[in-house]
Amino acid sequence: MKIADAVAVVTGGASGLGEAAARRLLELGAVVVAFDLNDTRGAALKEELGERFHYEQVDVGDLTQVEAAVAAVEKAHGPIRVVVNSAAVARPAKLLSSRGPLPMDGFDLAVKVNLYGPIHVMRSVVPGLSTAEPNEDGERGVIINVASGAAYEGQIGQIGYSATKAALVGLTMPLFRELAQHGIRVMTVAPGAFDTPIYDQVTPALKQELADQSLFPRRMGAPAEFGLLIEEIVRNPMHNGRTIRLDAGMILRPS
Ligand SMILES: NC(=O)c1ccc[n+]([C@@H]2O[C@H](COP(=O)([O-])OP(=O)(O)OC[C@H]3O[C@@H](n4cnc5c(N)ncnc54)[C@H](O)[C@@H]3O)[C@@H](O)[C@H]2O)c1
Repeated sequence: MKIADAVAVVTGGASGLGEAAARRLLELGAVVVAFDLNDTRGAALKEELGERFHYEQVDVGDLTQVEAAVAAVEKAHGPIRVVVNSAAVARPAKLLSSRGPLPMDGFDLAVKVNLYGPIHVMRSVVPGLSTAEPNEDGERGVIINVASGAAYEGQIGQIGYSATKAALVGLTMPLFRELAQHGIRVMTVAPGAFDTPIYDQVTPALKQELADQSLFPRRMGAPAEFGLLIEEIVRNPMHNGRTIRLDAGMILRPS
């Protein structure tokens, strides 16, 4: 799909992989609206990236907020052709720890943001997109959900995170099959370890341990490398109905 002038919504677009996707799409001429909760980063990016970048404070776990924000984007810019659902929270917790059984508030939040979030965005965007003008290939747009290697090889303490990411992998096929009739592609990316602010809470030693587990390149991924895959998926219509693992072959050992 042509990226220049396309309208893209990137959730979690004020940080990390979402920000990298937003930057790449902007470089290629898209209009990008980031839905995020990080107002400080949103304002800084607006200042840096200029008039084709927009930041909206939206909690993707809140359907009313998402519906209102999507309607506002459509009114201001037209149909949303590209969606990158990157917003997520980790909330690590074990089923049984020294503090007791799994705290359900963290689990609920992971489900709300990581699973309900993408659903909220997709169910709000697809009605408008399904009636938008298609290109010569019959294509109207593309939805890219961001899962994780934890959908496959979750670590101890990643119950909620892994379950929600595996759910995104699972819904890729039924959604692709359903939305094909509208010319809307559905893809999922499952990244490995990328150096983003999501790792701000962990020690440099733990980050080094992650990098040391990679065979080649012997480092964590750079967010811009995620942006390159987003570009490839949007441009190339043969990407559909699949989950792509972007991790340099790294499979983390249990910890
Ligand atoms: N960085 C990695 O190594 C890695 C690995 C696998 C998967 N992922 C996935 O990639 C995506 C991006 O992660 P990242 O590393 O860039 O993290 P990040 O923390 O840098 O960015 C996540 C963004 O989501 C936003 N966000 C959180 N809750 C929100 C909500 N309710 N509504 C709107 N925005 C919200 C945050 O404010 C933040 O800006 C996530 O889905 C994550 O699970 C990351």
